[in-house]
Amino acid sequence: MVQADIGVYGLGTMGSALALNLAEKGFEVAVSNREADWLAPFLAEAGSLSARIAAHAGLDDFVASLKAPRMILFMIPSGAPVDDLIAALQPYLSAGDTLIDGGNSDFHDTRRRAAALSAQGLHFVGMGVSGGEEGARTGPSMMVGGTGESWNRLRPMAEAIAAQYQGSPCVAHLGPDGAGHFVKTVHNGIEYADMQMIAEIYGLLRDGVGWSPVQIAALFRDWSDGPLASYLIEIAAEVLEASDPATGDALLDSILDSAGQKGTGRWTVIEALKLGQSASTIEAAVGARAWSSETRARQAASGLLSQSNRFPPPDRDVLAQALLAGRLVSHAQGFRLLSAASEVYDWSLDLARIAEIWRAGCIIRSALLDDIADAFRADPPHGHLILAPHIAMLTTRAEPALRRVVSMAIGAGLPVPSLAAALGWKDSMAQARGNANMIQALRDRFGAHGFFMQDGSGPRHGPWHGD
Ligand code: 6PG
Repeated sequence: MVQADIGVYGLGTMGSALALNLAEKGFEVAVSNREADWLAPFLAEAGSLSARIAAHAGLDDFVASLKAPRMILFMIPSGAPVDDLIAALQPYLSAGDTLIDGGNSDFHDTRRRAAALSAQGLHFVGMGVSGGEEGARTGPSMMVGGTGESWNRLRPMAEAIAAQYQGSPCVAHLGPDGAGHFVKTVHNGIEYADMQMIAEIYGLLRDGVGWSPVQIAALFRDWSDGPLASYLIEIAAEVLEASDPATGDALLDSILDSAGQKGTGRWTVIEALKLGQSASTIEAAVGARAWSSETRARQAASGLLSQSNRFPPPDRDVLAQALLAGRLVSHAQGFRLLSAASEVYDWSLDLARIAEIWRAGCIIRSALLDDIADAFRADPPHGHLILAPHIAMLTTRAEPALRRVVSMAIGAGLPVPSLAAALGWKDSMAQARGNANMIQALRDRFGAHGFFMQDGSGPRHGPWHGD
């Protein structure tokens, strides 16, 4: 019997798609799943590709079918199921084998698992996979964290199945242990902010101007080819155009305005705060999802609080530039967070390479990432994207539009928390002299916390209390 190049455990949407992608690229794949009755339907779905796929109900057979040293990709829910699967596999593994977690795992868990398994001579790779089902089947973007040895073994397969951007595979080894999962978490945080800002512009046009979904779709279609070109703008136009098969009306109008979240956006915000950063556009997006789920409270409050007003249709280019400015800031915040984590965890993250592997396959792929990759090749100080001259120019050019759109929305009483957070951050960063001297004086006045002077001297205390 032919020994398989890789084992894929977990035949949900993503696992099945990756297994088929691997088989299509010519690799011998072994598959297994907790529910053994998923195996036969999967093989039937695989069609001619099933010639390169062997399905195993038992973990012992599954592991025995793999070439040594073995590589096993987990595509299962994050959290306890990953620990449970590691424990269940361990009796069958040998030193040198590699386990790869392709789920959206918390990078702290990945670090813990990598350390524990390395003590037993096993490699543990945390691999962020982006692109949804379609991406996994035809070419995802993948962010890999783990040992160099495990990457060398995984690399030919990962590069073969990854999305390609102008001939370059959208997968990279970004660092050890949790680096890949951390980068994927921040990717998702940016995804949250991007979607939130798209929803904010949609809301302004729907509630402030009174446009129909089809009218808004036409605008988004225009934007699909220009500086805002991106997968999320494309699919936003698509969902705006879709009609409900039962009624023929716009489907979007009947979808409940209550957003779900699995945790990666929230983790981005938590990690940002722990690292002394603030990804405020992402925080606003996570918060907006939380408020959206308070449907009953919002319905009650809408009768008690003042209502929003209509306004004349804003210039299309102004809206586009406002959205671009928001996108620039959410990426600047996300990359700043990556650079802060890289220092603390000693990952030496290559920010330009991260931008490059996000240019195809992943959910946040966009034309802007090309500019961002170039900007990071020039190595702006402290991972600050806005300090790269081209990005500073784009931000300066787009900022007046952001200010107009945010002011208009605020005047009309329409919510734009993520766009407003982008403006607040940009305005704060643009001030060489901020207002935090007041915070410092107040802290010292009530708590004797001390402060430094502009000339660098200190710490000192104020002459408060008349002393
Ligand atoms: C991706 C997506 C994917 C998934 C998120 C959504 O990159 O392919 O980010 O990982 O869509 O988990 O997360 P929420 O359910 O929290 O929106």
